[in-house]
Amino acid sequence: MKPPAPIAMLAELTHRCPLSCPYCSNPVELTRQNAELDTQTWARVFREAADLGVLQLHLSGGEPASRRDLTELVIAAREAGLYTNLITSGIGLTQKRLGELDAAGLDHVQLSLQGTNPEMADEIGGYNGGFKRKMQVAEWIGAIGFPLTLNAVLHRRNLHQLPRALEMAQEMGARRIEVATVQFHGWALKNRDALMPTRAQAQEANRIVAEARKQLTGTLVIDYVPADYHEDYPKRCMGGWGTSGFNVIPDGQVLPCHAAQSIPHLTFDRVQDKSLGDIWYKGEAFNAYRGTEWMAEPCQSCERKTIDFGGCRCQALAIVGDASATDPVCIKSPHHGALQAQADTHAAQVDAPLVYRTFPGKETEPAE
Ligand code: SF4
Ligand code: FES
Repeated sequence: MKPPAPIAMLAELTHRCPLSCPYCSNPVELTRQNAELDTQTWARVFREAADLGVLQLHLSGGEPASRRDLTELVIAAREAGLYTNLITSGIGLTQKRLGELDAAGLDHVQLSLQGTNPEMADEIGGYNGGFKRKMQVAEWIGAIGFPLTLNAVLHRRNLHQLPRALEMAQEMGARRIEVATVQFHGWALKNRDALMPTRAQAQEANRIVAEARKQLTGTLVIDYVPADYHEDYPKRCMGGWGTSGFNVIPDGQVLPCHAAQSIPHLTFDRVQDKSLGDIWYKGEAFNAYRGTEWMAEPCQSCERKTIDFGGCRCQALAIVGDASATDPVCIKSPHHGALQAQADTHAAQVDAPLVYRTFPGKETEPAE
């Protein structure tokens, strides 16, 4: 049976970023600026994505504002008929630049929040003055009237700020908040000791989100990614492998999920060599874990196998050493108990230092 067409594309325009967040999910090996796709190639890829059935384009990074041609890219995406969402820390965006993005037709902004006050936000982002600039950018976003989603990344250090993050989303006029407990992929794997929430924090976050969802129905939509090491069932990662979306990374490789390069036996096609349609339907990486046939037990005979598709392949690889294993978050996995014990051990490392995201040639282009 032919797989469904994708509906979403995440374009990682660049790995460059002014922040140094320890929870960064970009890979440990980053793409350098001189290997990034150029404007024309991205524009062609946007057209191919629209032809393939993609409706939503998420412009991400790194920090997408680090690309000087961001406005041109938005124009190209809108010309292709895509709904455009800019995922940004706000650093590198000026009032003038936001006005240009508005004129270019940008549909939506998703602003990340590292903390709800300068002390927390600037420490986590590794960028002095970042919170102040972000709040200024939030004001400009509100003045232009962009639909806004706030993306609060939470972990052991800042989970107590969740109630304030929910208030801030309302004060900023956001229609949606993504409460994303840190997922341990890429660079973030180095920071499990520093960032792993305690079980009590994870449970408290579940309670706060459930209550807020009741109270804020019709006012604020809350998307929630729980602290999955402390859960009993895994997340449906990427909506199911090769089911609804894909990522194009700065050098043109097309990935089924943002951490797929951590699975060593997979090879990834590039937009320079093949059409997106060929890559989506026929690519080896996309077919490796598509559907349910690849599953072993206990997933193969489980009634939830088309609900969560066995969880996250990258997490299975990272923790069990086998990308086709049941995600160890699942209570039916033989590794579930060990994972929960491991989570408690990480969460008990109260003095663990933050390991900041760094890379050679780290830079962002100056704001105009
Ligand atoms: Fe999901 Fe597999 Fe666990 Fe069933 S056994 S709940 S399919 S991860
Ligand atoms: Fe790769 Fe979940 S991050 S499948």
